Amino acid sequence: MATTAETPVSAATAATAATAATAATTATTAAGATETAPPTTATTPAATALPRVPIPPRGVDYRGKLVLAPMVRSGELPSRLLALHYGADLVWGPETVDHSLIGATRRVNPRTGMIEYTRQPSHAYSPANSAARNNSNDSNDNDNNEAGAAESVIYRLDPEREKGKLVFQLGTSDAERAVAAARVVAADVAGIDVNAGCPKPFSMLGGMGAALLRAPEKLAGILEALARDITPAFGIGISVKIRLLETPAETEALVRRLVRTGITGLTVHCRTTPMRPRERAVRGQLAMIRRVCHEAGVACLMNGDVESRDHADLLVREFGVDGAMIATAAEKNPSCFRSRADGGLAAWPEVARRYLRFAMEVENRAANTKYLLAQIIPGKALAYRDVQRGRSYSDFAQALECDEEMRAMAREADRVLGLGEFEPKRGPKQKNKQQQKGQQGEQPSGQQQESKKRKRGQDEEEEREGGEGGGEGGEQQAKAKDESAKRPEVAAEPAPVAAPAAIAV
Ligand SMILES: Cc1cc2nc3c(=O)[nH]c(=O)nc-3n(C[C@H](O)[C@H](O)[C@H](O)COP(=O)(O)O)c2cc1C
Repeated sequence: MATTAETPVSAATAATAATAATAATTATTAAGATETAPPTTATTPAATALPRVPIPPRGVDYRGKLVLAPMVRSGELPSRLLALHYGADLVWGPETVDHSLIGATRRVNPRTGMIEYTRQPSHAYSPANSAARNNSNDSNDNDNNEAGAAESVIYRLDPEREKGKLVFQLGTSDAERAVAAARVVAADVAGIDVNAGCPKPFSMLGGMGAALLRAPEKLAGILEALARDITPAFGIGISVKIRLLETPAETEALVRRLVRTGITGLTVHCRTTPMRPRERAVRGQLAMIRRVCHEAGVACLMNGDVESRDHADLLVREFGVDGAMIATAAEKNPSCFRSRADGGLAAWPEVARRYLRFAMEVENRAANTKYLLAQIIPGKALAYRDVQRGRSYSDFAQALECDEEMRAMAREADRVLGLGEFEPKRGPKQKNKQQQKGQQGEQPSGQQQESKKRKRGQDEEEEREGGEGGGEGGEQQAKAKDESAKRPEVAAEPAPVAAPAAIAV
């Protein structure tokens, strides 16, 4: 394993960089027009005397950490376990909107031991859903579910492997709702982070995400409420993830306000709200942000185009921040968390098989697993085409040429989730649709496949335009898509091994 919490980003790097870089000079022009000049001196007496906000007893200090970024769709439980496996020090879960969490039910999955937050989907009362329920002996159905709709898992976490390492990210625009939502999960996580960076219309129109950057008092009010009501009650810290504003002066005013709210950490995604993901991150304001955070004793993580642990080490040293956060590079290959000295990037077949194992272990939705495998497997690989055409865990295991043990796991996962040979029988109409779909997807060449993937990449890029993340903000769309893909699985789930431990929160 690359690194542990005790030997962070590179412990020496994080510790000395913060002080050395206090002398870094900062450009004061527009958002990212210029890069910060490299630090010029080593430790100064003033720097060593910097304050540090106390870290609550169950919380985590972001200092010296290389962390997995919050990613809707790409940051579900198996992805986080994979990142931890390859040495991520902390993992952020995907943004979850406060509304969806309030009223959710917490349960422990009796088969996997995972903690799952569930609620009835909005289409709970549709006739289609009732039919699904009638066909279902879903072990996870809530006994109080009078409407008869299968519940959907909105958040899943591993109480063992993620213990002390999982930061829950909240999408919110209201202090009271933020506190109510945070209460639901706070006992199971090591920190609550507020998303103040999502530029998608879904977030912005709801006053969430990057809209909060233009309403600093509202954002500060949310953070203060969380620090006042959640930190003492649950012993965890509150943090915020922001983007750059247009000018250093604007960003500085914002950060100065935020570090006085009681937060323990701040992450800056080094792009402005209108910047597209494909535009290079700009780091001209970073040293200033780090300085303001450090004056208040708040940890500062940098994000944007960080490629690997070794790259993070260099950047931390250069900008004096406390650590770094990786999104896109980790989505494609989470072994980027492993330093070159510890083995560096793993080959995609190893990463893909490991991912598949984690996905099966935690009963991840097959549609989400397929999506993530498509990020990991190169478009020109034969396995990419086979995974794309696959519909079950057995299909994925075969596509990845897994050994017999994995194939047996896949069969069991299919049985539990009602996939492949365990899929409920369909009516003739549905069957026809399925056949048509299958025919459409038949046998494209490797080249076609590669260009298809490139094209899809471009489409996704366009989708993300002006925005961060293919899923973020598009969360509802993504979830709706995954939901529809998931319905048959839920409907077919077999009788429980043991009675589910449903604990209402
Ligand atoms: C698929 C995807 C989903 C994302 N979802 C979120 C999210 O839920 N919350 C958030 O704050 N940022 C989200 N982001 C933005 C990332 O956390 C990160 O800030 C951004 O991608 C820049 O980091 P990178 O250059 O390492 O990709 C998402 C990004 C991607 C690619």
